[in-house]
Amino acid sequence: MCGIIGYIGERRACEVIVKGLKRLEYRGYDSVGVVTEENGKLYIKKGVGSVDEVVERLNLLDMPGNRGVGHTRWATHGVPNDINAHPQKDCTGKIALVHNGIIENFAELKKELVEKGHTFESDTDTEVIAHLIEEELKSSGNFEEALRKALLKLKGSFALGIVYTGEPDRLYFVRNESPLVLGIGDGEMFAASDVPAFLEYTNKVVFLDDMEYAVVTKDSWVVKRLETGEEVEKEVKTIDWTLEMAEKAGFPHFMLKEIFEQPRVLRDAIHGNAKVIRDVAREIANYSKIFIVAMGTSYHAALTGKYLLQRLAKKVPIVEDASEFRYEFEDLIDENSLVIAITQSGETADTLAAMKLAKRKGAKVLAIVNVVGSMATRIADLTLYTHAGPEIGVAATKTYTTQLAVLTMLAIELARTLGTAEEEHLKELEEGLRRVPDLVEGILNLSEPLRELAEELKDKQNFFYIGRGIDLPTALEGALKLKEISYIHAEGLSAGELKHGPLALIEDGVPVVAIAPNGRTFDKMLGNIEEAKARGAHVIALGSSERLEEVSDTFIRMPDLDEILTPIPYIVPLQLLAYHLAVLRGNDPDKPRNLAKSVTVE
Ligand code: AGP
Repeated sequence: MCGIIGYIGERRACEVIVKGLKRLEYRGYDSVGVVTEENGKLYIKKGVGSVDEVVERLNLLDMPGNRGVGHTRWATHGVPNDINAHPQKDCTGKIALVHNGIIENFAELKKELVEKGHTFESDTDTEVIAHLIEEELKSSGNFEEALRKALLKLKGSFALGIVYTGEPDRLYFVRNESPLVLGIGDGEMFAASDVPAFLEYTNKVVFLDDMEYAVVTKDSWVVKRLETGEEVEKEVKTIDWTLEMAEKAGFPHFMLKEIFEQPRVLRDAIHGNAKVIRDVAREIANYSKIFIVAMGTSYHAALTGKYLLQRLAKKVPIVEDASEFRYEFEDLIDENSLVIAITQSGETADTLAAMKLAKRKGAKVLAIVNVVGSMATRIADLTLYTHAGPEIGVAATKTYTTQLAVLTMLAIELARTLGTAEEEHLKELEEGLRRVPDLVEGILNLSEPLRELAEELKDKQNFFYIGRGIDLPTALEGALKLKEISYIHAEGLSAGELKHGPLALIEDGVPVVAIAPNGRTFDKMLGNIEEAKARGAHVIALGSSERLEEVSDTFIRMPDLDEILTPIPYIVPLQLLAYHLAVLRGNDPDKPRNLAKSVTVE
């Protein structure tokens, strides 16, 4: 996730852009850049660091011109460095652009462009877009047409702000699967990833939809379809948010905003790994001694990964909490071992220590990480990114579901490489996974009913979360979410374990959250639910079967899908329930007591 902003009007563009970037910094903070234009010349300044650091070091407020675009980066392709920072430009230096998103087919496009003589400076996917427009411009001579033709060749997600010296009175903005909104001023126009970037100047906005682009001058704007170039009628909306509300896109907390971002970041995770996953699967396919290490929520993703690898790739990995791994497995790791480390931050001390040990012993290390360029990516031999963008809330939400998406893709691709599952089933799973972001979108509509349920449950002292098989980790993660932000005691356990002890704690009204999708263990889950009910539990069941609805006190209807794909959608209501309980109990879910976003001590 990155932040983009553009301005055209009478003011000094750099001042408006720098202010906007400051407000977009939560979207990415590894590097910053601005391009302005005056008298047919582009002025570009960019570099690694926070907005404040780069503004001071490169004097960003001293750039001429009344039009320009800016970018705050959260690296996806290419490590954070000065060259990879945006804007990126074409060979002629006449086109400069900033980008938020992921271009899936950039490697193929780059190869073709290099063959045609284009010279690339950066490792980014973004630079391809500038060269592609330049190439199309050679044959069409009309910038807008060249832009459309070029962008139709892209696969993936993109929000773009584009400056072209040949057309001094305008800017172009494009949206596909990455957010972009126009700000309509009086004699000036704005565009950004998010409203707060320009809210100080105007509250009149136009939201672009996928595959639309805008041509903006200081006095006019028009939105068109990318496929046809036809004009689209758009409504100008008036925003009545305060600046603080706007930074969270109107959500009261970052955590809720991040829960609601899941459909989009899941799409990014799927797009972002579509090409690389095959190579990674091939590189690791022959390892039979596999360890998965992680902490906290990432550990729950690791546990889900174990079920995925078992069921699809017929591999039996050992999953270990990274803080335990070093003391128990040192003698067992060797050059025939594969260690998969899962970490959002890429900086968790226990996970890094486990990875270093694995490297020392000659093992192959694959990291599944959110933060590009973090320590974990430097230690690992191979890295898969989750592409979830920065997560501000301490409780991991969107980074968990994107970890699950990557693990699902990896297990499918491994199964394909090894021939351990029917190709037809693998294809169905891939299609199903691509539909999961839409399903999650639907589940987000449960937020209000879950808030009402939280009202009913907010004074409870203990919660139990039960699940089986591939959804046992969902139960563990649901319980962790509740503990860390609501401070209610919660236990996640396998439903089968209930009667081996914990059942003694079930009495009248104790909430038992049962994760019960249709699948291998559904009938057994019904039995466990009955056991809990017989002791007076208030059973909150997540599933899609009518039988489940009949036995539960509160039924949370979920989409019916292949059991393998259930961990992603099924955690979403549990994130929402934990969030609402935390808020109703007067806690700040973004900053839970005693906890830090990144745990860098062992
Ligand atoms: C989850 O909500 C927690 N904040 C925590 O358990 C976290 O998942 C854990 O500290 C691991 O972090 P990492 O993914 O950055 O390594």
